[in-house]
Amino acid sequence: MARKIWVFDTTLRDGEQVPGAKLNQYEKLEVAQQLKKLGVDMIEAGFPSSSTGDFNAVKEIATKVGNTDDIIITALARAVKSDIDAVYNSVKDANNPLIHIVLGTSDIHVEKKFGKSKDQIMDIGVEAVKYAKSLLPDVQYSTEDASRSDFEYLWKTIESVVKAGATIINVPDTVGYAEPEEFGELIFKLNDRLKNLDDTVLLSVHCHNDLGMATANTLAAIKNGADKVECTINGIGERAGNAALEEVVMSMNTRSSIYQTYTNINTKEIMNTSKLVSSFMGLDVQVNKAITGDNAFAHSSGIHQDGLLKSRDAYEIISPLEVGLDDMELVLTARSGRHAVKNALNKLGFNEFTDIQFEEIFADFLEMADKKKEVYNHDLYIIVENYFKESHISDNFFELVDLQVISNTSFPSASVKLKKEGQILEGSAVGSGPIDALYSAIMEISQLDIQLQEYNISSVSRGKEAVGKVKIQVEFRGEKYTAKATDTDIMKASALAFINAINNIVVEHLVPAN
Ligand code: KIV
Ligand code: ZN
Repeated sequence: MARKIWVFDTTLRDGEQVPGAKLNQYEKLEVAQQLKKLGVDMIEAGFPSSSTGDFNAVKEIATKVGNTDDIIITALARAVKSDIDAVYNSVKDANNPLIHIVLGTSDIHVEKKFGKSKDQIMDIGVEAVKYAKSLLPDVQYSTEDASRSDFEYLWKTIESVVKAGATIINVPDTVGYAEPEEFGELIFKLNDRLKNLDDTVLLSVHCHNDLGMATANTLAAIKNGADKVECTINGIGERAGNAALEEVVMSMNTRSSIYQTYTNINTKEIMNTSKLVSSFMGLDVQVNKAITGDNAFAHSSGIHQDGLLKSRDAYEIISPLEVGLDDMELVLTARSGRHAVKNALNKLGFNEFTDIQFEEIFADFLEMADKKKEVYNHDLYIIVENYFKESHISDNFFELVDLQVISNTSFPSASVKLKKEGQILEGSAVGSGPIDALYSAIMEISQLDIQLQEYNISSVSRGKEAVGKVKIQVEFRGEKYTAKATDTDIMKASALAFINAINNIVVEHLVPAN
């Protein structure tokens, strides 16, 4: 029978330790609300003794998100009274509050960090648990640097804090040093002793990613009896980060016959949560990151696209729909093969070519793909209509002719010239910033009511000649459209990305754009 794995999310504590990722109270609350929608069992909302701001944010999360019985709200305390008081006072209004205490068990921590004896540290831990227990019934104890600790001392600590009242024992691989097989064995041995001591106590793990093994170590722990896992969204966290929630959960789901476990996670909320965390914290997700990276469900090689079009399971182990994406993305590039291009053309209604005609159109496609990098549906219209010297649908597309953007502190403004149906259309606007002004001017010309949902700019090369890549997502009549463009001029790249998105909308609706 499948065993329940408790999912403890520490995006708002360990994740927030990433330099520059600090959130304000409003943002922390929004993320906590989304984590609840995602279905996590426990939220570690912060480290309240670190600042009044964090104390207030944890308190608000405890009151507004912890107000139902299906979620536990906790926060971190060192094994000192003032920290435990701060956690208690910030989480106590939740329906299910928990105090989380951390204290090292490795020789390095005991001797070098604290300069004390092992017995002294254990006594401090036991006293801290007893004090926390006098405030709340649920107390988690983390044996920091457990994976580098002497096993018998680690166990003696766990035994003592459980006898003092700890209800969850968390075993961290604090510096990401563990190796999956070895970590699995550690968890197996600890679980065996713990369940003999008190089988109501949950055994938890918290793995860091310094050697890229946080997910593997967490999964090894699950296989060896861990009841609970600590994770963050997109794997963010101290240094190289923590085990990524989406990777651990999707591994359990995808390989369920191996793990024989289940969680309460609503996987369809994974992408929404990932995007929210990434945009609030200003931390881009690595494009090839498992599950939540931009390319995780995008297929670009011709061989793969051909295989997928024949049978999706040829190159797809998870349906993108399961994690809340619309569908897989077949990106048309110069590496795409005939099968993918023909499929895209068929979807647009172009299916009556002779073999010779298709070969010539495919050659035009390759020429455009070499210049543009990614080819969109509206580009395919242009290719086909140019080829047949016809002109109807592509007349509705917009083309950038010129732009001028003025950036200043009082009135950033933009003037844009676009071409459509052979005519030059001009627009200008002021905005809260240069991009806002630029997009308002383009929107004025297109006369489409579009909402910009996401704007992302990154550099694809270094130095003076750096090429800026702009990726945007816009919403039109409730539908989302993503588009990209690259140029050495970032304003031009921004305009081209927006125009690509508008042309996508025109293709989808096949209506004149004004
Ligand atoms: O990495 C660690 O050891 C921690 C503890 C507070 C659990 O973050
Ligand atoms: Zn940590």
